[in-house]
Amino acid sequence: MKLARVQTKRLPQPPADEKEKNKVILAIETSCDETAAAVLRYAVQDDWPQVTTLSSVINSQIKLHSKFGGVVPEAAARAHIKFIRPVVERALYQGGTNLADVDCIAVTAGPGLAPSLIVGVEFAKGLAFGAKKPLLPVNHMLGHLYSPFQPTVSGKQPRKDLFPMIALIVSGGHTILALLTDRDHYRILGQTVDDAAGEAFDKVAKLLGLPYPGGPQVSRLAARAAAPVEFPRPMLNSKNYNFSFSGLKTAVLYHIQSLPTKHLALGAKQNICAGFEQAAVDVLAGKTIRAAAELGARSISLSGGVSANAALRRRLAADCRQQGLKFFVPPAGLSTDNAEMIGLAAAFLLARGKRPVPPQRVAADPNLAL
Ligand code: KG4
Ligand code: ZN
Repeated sequence: MKLARVQTKRLPQPPADEKEKNKVILAIETSCDETAAAVLRYAVQDDWPQVTTLSSVINSQIKLHSKFGGVVPEAAARAHIKFIRPVVERALYQGGTNLADVDCIAVTAGPGLAPSLIVGVEFAKGLAFGAKKPLLPVNHMLGHLYSPFQPTVSGKQPRKDLFPMIALIVSGGHTILALLTDRDHYRILGQTVDDAAGEAFDKVAKLLGLPYPGGPQVSRLAARAAAPVEFPRPMLNSKNYNFSFSGLKTAVLYHIQSLPTKHLALGAKQNICAGFEQAAVDVLAGKTIRAAAELGARSISLSGGVSANAALRRRLAADCRQQGLKFFVPPAGLSTDNAEMIGLAAAFLLARGKRPVPPQRVAADPNLAL
């Protein structure tokens, strides 16, 4: 079967004698509109996972859904069914390994779209049954949470002064502020009370007639704005750590409706995008930095699809520098959905002693909580 729009990456293989000491994780992710698989080599050293990504394959369905202006769950599931096997085969091949070498299969069990999740979970269960491999269900949000740790597990960055850490996870379905007291323990401080941050980017893009997914489009137009529109900063000064984005989206709608023409010029769209992005970034960064100060954090991490946003990255990086906080953000390619982060989360779970689950006990859970 021919794969469309595949991003792949291949890393150097370990010497044969080192392979012995390491475990191989095959990770599978199908929670939304990317069919993804990755192969990672994993060991524990000084109580910290050491992970090398051997392959990461992502088959994006953006083209399929963009004509509908959003993800169509049944169409997503059908595309997952079509591509899951070739994607997994390619990940194994590019990882220089085969199913027999795999020590653990990790699969996203939720949260996400039920029809999409079911494809990945049932495929992984079949593999685990057939090849007699242990199966580890992984929470998609845990994948995002651990994605900024990639440089520390690959040895590219020291893992000093990490905790306490404030983690901001911003995706298409979630906006979560969490406190990590150490590697294995976290507490949710706040969440969105309505739309997720990525959802707000997507909805604003739709209001402006921009294609799905809207986040990258809004960000691209925002970068060229001459005079950003002033929009409200919902809940920036509220006493809790929750967020709200639906009022901001409505403010954008009212602004568009107040304009004399329906056919907005590029400049007007750029100014709206920049105004919206600045408001969203102000609220996200403002509350994250305040949480870090109030809870005595030493570092901040940013993850989830919206962490690909350059303005948000720049702003949090600058704020962290100013406050003397370390800043962790996923490397390119680990912000939006991928299977490598599911493998990383699996490595952290295994390092803390989490045991695989019998395949018959694993089920997709669209509402799985972090
Ligand atoms: O984590 P993710 O890939 O999927 C979910 O778990 O939801 O996040 C997707 C979200 C979408 O809403 C998309 O518009 C947003 O991340 N996104 C961005 C950018 N790239 C992706 N939002 C703002 N700026 C970006 N550059
Ligand atoms: Zn995600």
